[in-house]
Amino acid sequence: MNLIRSAAAAAAALLLAACQQSETNTVAPEGAGPPEAQIAPILETPEAKDAATYARPLEARVYHVALDLNVDFDAKRIGGTAALDIDRKPDAKEIILDDKGLEIESITDGSNEPLEYKVGAADPKLGSPLAVTLRPDTRRLIIKYKSAPDAGALQWLTPEQTAGKKKPYLFSQGQAIENRSWIPTQDSPGIRQSWEATIHVPAGLTAVMSAPKSAEPITQGGESVFSYKMPHSVAPYMIAIGVGDLAFKSLGPRTGVWTEPVMLDRAASELEDTEKMVAAAEKLYGPYRWGRYDLLVLPPAAPYGGMENPTLTFLTPTFIAGDKSLVGLVAHELAHSWSGNLVTNSNWADSWLNEGVTSYFENRIMEAIYGPKRAAQEASLSFDEMEKALAEEHNGPNTQLHLGPKEGVPDGGSGGIIYDKGAVFLRTLEKIIGREKWDAYLRSYFDRHAFQPMTSARFLADIRENLIKGDKTLEAKLQLDNWVYKPGLPSNVARPDPVAFASVDRAVRAFAAGGPPPSAFSGWTTAEKLRFLNKLPRKMAKARLDALNKALKLNETGNNEVLFAWLDLAMRNRFDPAVPALEKFLTSQGRRKFVQPLIETLAEDKEWGRPIAVRVYKVARASYHPITQRDLDKLKLGG
Ligand code: BES
Ligand code: ZN
Repeated sequence: MNLIRSAAAAAAALLLAACQQSETNTVAPEGAGPPEAQIAPILETPEAKDAATYARPLEARVYHVALDLNVDFDAKRIGGTAALDIDRKPDAKEIILDDKGLEIESITDGSNEPLEYKVGAADPKLGSPLAVTLRPDTRRLIIKYKSAPDAGALQWLTPEQTAGKKKPYLFSQGQAIENRSWIPTQDSPGIRQSWEATIHVPAGLTAVMSAPKSAEPITQGGESVFSYKMPHSVAPYMIAIGVGDLAFKSLGPRTGVWTEPVMLDRAASELEDTEKMVAAAEKLYGPYRWGRYDLLVLPPAAPYGGMENPTLTFLTPTFIAGDKSLVGLVAHELAHSWSGNLVTNSNWADSWLNEGVTSYFENRIMEAIYGPKRAAQEASLSFDEMEKALAEEHNGPNTQLHLGPKEGVPDGGSGGIIYDKGAVFLRTLEKIIGREKWDAYLRSYFDRHAFQPMTSARFLADIRENLIKGDKTLEAKLQLDNWVYKPGLPSNVARPDPVAFASVDRAVRAFAAGGPPPSAFSGWTTAEKLRFLNKLPRKMAKARLDALNKALKLNETGNNEVLFAWLDLAMRNRFDPAVPALEKFLTSQGRRKFVQPLIETLAEDKEWGRPIAVRVYKVARASYHPITQRDLDKLKLGG
């Protein structure tokens, strides 16, 4: 493989690229130094600083990454070169990158003289600082390296772990701070970088990435080569790759789905409303700025429900229920194309700016496509999740939207605060301000801050400047600071419409009082089924669970959210007849949101549950993502 193009060719290509781009971005002609205006700014205020990076971007920062990488399934390594364009203070002596377990062979600045570098002590979460000594004229680093076989961002699947069973599979999960395990760059959401990649894979496999394709794939001499280029500057956690036996089906003019051939038809029919969702999202909050919106439906081992990789959302196949009842997930990841990908939390203490704003936006898309009844039910479920989280934390310091430094780096775990309280905050603002005015404001917010980092302080300042405009009564009504910086629930909270679940709640009371299982259950919406199962008393007699299971066929449900809610209840009550369904669930998919709480509940029950947890984890562990393994290994189940 040709790792490094000649300097002259590279300069010509960059110049051409710079001329072709209309949007502001960070590609600059080599040697001339980057035009300042084209580099996404770093926020300099203290609250914007990211505690989860070693980088010191105000001294020297990366603004473009060019990868040329080979995917080696036998060694479980990705390796090759990363060429980093950097912007620096003239007197900067070094640049600090993030590194988690990379094997570095050499670093140069394009000349033959190697640059000195030092890998610092490794922190188990953050990895190591990679300090590269700069010469006065260094503007580019060329790093030859390989990822480690246990890179946290990468999940390598054997053919048996795929749906088609014939070819291996690889996918990455960068958020929050995992990409440093396969890309040597400054891995911080406030240090935006444009990027491009040339990827070499064994012939017969397809590589897809979170960027537009920049050349047609070439297959030659046993390998296929794929090229992608992201012209916008993005947070580095948004660089993502998937490699496998992949097929594509168009869903609409701008949308389509990639997945294994045997999954394609099922995935495409579940996703048939995607094109409509993009249009609905644009109508709400402004243009979709990324070109195409495609989805990659992963093998069942995927650790997250979804990941909003730009131009190519990654999805768990567990959202496929056959009736589109779980496509809120798609609306959510799509909404991140605005909240998260366009306007990005500058550091992970302000995750709610990504996830809370997105959860609100998700619900608005659902309302636009499926109507107010479904949206109100889903919003009400989300409110329940928030209340559960507030209760678990006793309204303590972990219930603020803006997290303190001790809370660490959110990894998509407990969602009740940053997702659900975040969404409730925005719903409260909408209710007080009025939908029309609020929507106009939010649309203008995305325009004003497109392709920039955001902090809580900046968001509140933006609301004050553009919406409140000195209106003291409105300022008092909104309680902005209470929502963002105080624990618990402010008094102005907009509560969900109780009508949304009135009949289900009656059914809960009737069953809890000893009545028969609700006969209408099979005709209920998924949200209604979830509300019913979640609101039942946590302690129930075996005979009652038996009656429920028999009448509602819970062990056999094909809806994974309903199955999870049922198994949670069943395991808390040592309900043996649900154990086979549980074992099947835990060994046939790896979504952490499902897997982790069930295994934890079992592990806590020393006599009955723990032996089941040990038995299942022994079989299932190898198929889980490294992140999930790491968390579950803490339970010391062995296996
Ligand atoms: N961006 C998140 C996933 C994430 C968050 C990964 C933090 C790592 C760290 C994604 O958009 C997400 O929120 N996924 C949810 C689904 C959503 C509908 C609540 C999930 O995976 O369950
Ligand atoms: Zn999200």
